[in-house]
Amino acid sequence: MSGMRPTGQLHLGHYHGVLKNWIKLQTEYECFFSIVDWHALTTDYEDPGMVADNVWQMAIDWLAVGIDPGSAKIFIQSRIPEIAELHLLLSMFTSLSWLERVPTYKDQQEKLKNKDLTTYGFLGYPLLQTADIIVCKANFVPVGEDQVAHVEMSREIARRFNYLYGREAGYEEKAELAAKKMGKKNLKLYRELLTSYQEQGDGQALEKAQALIESQQNISIGDRERLIGYLEGGGRMIFPEPQALLTPASKMLGLDGQKMSKSYGNTITLRENPSSVEDKIRTMPTDPARVRLSDPGDPDKCPVWSLHEVYSDEDQKKWASEGCRSASIGCLDCKKPVIDSVLKEQQPIRERAREYQNDPEMVRGIINEGCEAARDAARETLEEVRQVMGISYR
Ligand code: TRP
Ligand code: SF4
Repeated sequence: MSGMRPTGQLHLGHYHGVLKNWIKLQTEYECFFSIVDWHALTTDYEDPGMVADNVWQMAIDWLAVGIDPGSAKIFIQSRIPEIAELHLLLSMFTSLSWLERVPTYKDQQEKLKNKDLTTYGFLGYPLLQTADIIVCKANFVPVGEDQVAHVEMSREIARRFNYLYGREAGYEEKAELAAKKMGKKNLKLYRELLTSYQEQGDGQALEKAQALIESQQNISIGDRERLIGYLEGGGRMIFPEPQALLTPASKMLGLDGQKMSKSYGNTITLRENPSSVEDKIRTMPTDPARVRLSDPGDPDKCPVWSLHEVYSDEDQKKWASEGCRSASIGCLDCKKPVIDSVLKEQQPIRERAREYQNDPEMVRGIINEGCEAARDAARETLEEVRQVMGISYR
């Protein structure tokens, strides 16, 4: 499970960092990708006018780069009210100091000085993210370095939840009853394994008992979780502890050689029109030592070089680097192949985006389907959560 804030047009930094990674992961896991509009409101609450359009444009960007609704579910956070309910319920046992200690809290307040972020909603940002992650019982969360602390928080919350509410009333009796459903022979084996684990700390016995429980066809998921929990001596595991899958930092830097970011004004957007791409790269700064064509340069001091690192093969890199150092090519010559590569990469993306843009019904249909899948998972989770927290009146 992962999410992205709908704060504006996606750019090549997003593509080479996050999105290409998602495209790979969608073939390996069952994925949920969320457009987190509530998170956008935590910082843009005074000026929410752009959020709705950004949501749809982001959906189009994701689809255009190849997030495949046939294998991954794309949904909009605010369409899943269960996430808000879970956020509220988690807030009951989340201590203020946990939230205040999350490094992004102070950092972002510092960075976004023009906004008043001394709000309840902004303090709860990582808890809302926790609700996103655990509502679908995600095991893995692909994120960049800057989000690792948030995933860490979701682990702590999941653990605390399991500790507080995994021990249902009559827990041991329920585990006993569940064990009986395995049939006589298995029950006997289970008891033996349990004893040798509990009395002798036999790790192999634990593993065998786990495998035995996993292999039972005729017991419910709830009973299975109960038995596993009982075996391990803790409560029932209601939420798995999610784990960050660190996205390697993108090599794609901005036009000025800093990290590509909208706030630095150094981006090339995913769907930037070709003439603008060409202008932006042609006017990119280069090694300042190359004033004249005859001045040799150093690729390591030039932001254009970082584009070669992303787009050029070994031969082309050799050509550029040797040409630069020997002053045998000009900077415009050097930029030409990168301009071509960016345009070539963007062309199919731009075309697919245009198709989706021209067919908003199709986009809505895809999103609706993703929302339904996310909601099914969320409903099931919340039923369980309400029950163990003692507020299920049915
Ligand atoms: N906070 C994340 C970011 O700014 C976005 C996000 C919200 C998220 N909910 C999530 C990421 C759940 C991963 C999982 O990038
Ligand atoms: Fe940069 Fe290429 Fe010019 Fe060298 S030749 S300074 S690498 S743009």
